[in-house]
Amino acid sequence: MKFIIINGPNLNLLGQREKEIYGNTSFEQYFETLKNEFTDLWLEYYQSNHEGAIIDKIHEVGFDYDGIVLNAGAYTHTSIAIADAISAVRSPVVEVHISNVYSRENFRHKSYLSPVCKGLVIGFGLKGYHLALQSFLNK
Ligand code: DQA
Repeated sequence: MKFIIINGPNLNLLGQREKEIYGNTSFEQYFETLKNEFTDLWLEYYQSNHEGAIIDKIHEVGFDYDGIVLNAGAYTHTSIAIADAISAVRSPVVEVHISNVYSRENFRHKSYLSPVCKGLVIGFGLKGYHLALQSFLNK
């Protein structure tokens, strides 16, 4: 089975940015852990700071892959275009947020993506990516 994790803007700085919120681990480090935990899966990682590039990637994989794990970062709260891309493809998308966005500023309480995603994993740190992948496997 083929899965991709797509991270949006500023998530390339995990391990360096606001460590009290997002922790000390870079995504590249955590991705190694994930690959060891899901050795049977085809697992890819993509990150972009650009909305259009994220949309292009969703189009590219979204008719072929078994699932997409998406942390769109701040685009979650603004992007109708990413929501439309999720609706346009066949692959189910699980929305992930490292932090509990509902315990933070009001502008983080709105997600344009949640209504078109299969499910959400919010507030469990990097482990949320593991839980999202697992959700595709537990029938
Ligand atoms: C985030 C939450 C967003 O509000 C924020 O803009 C991010 C990261 C999270 O993983 O907690 O960049 O998606």
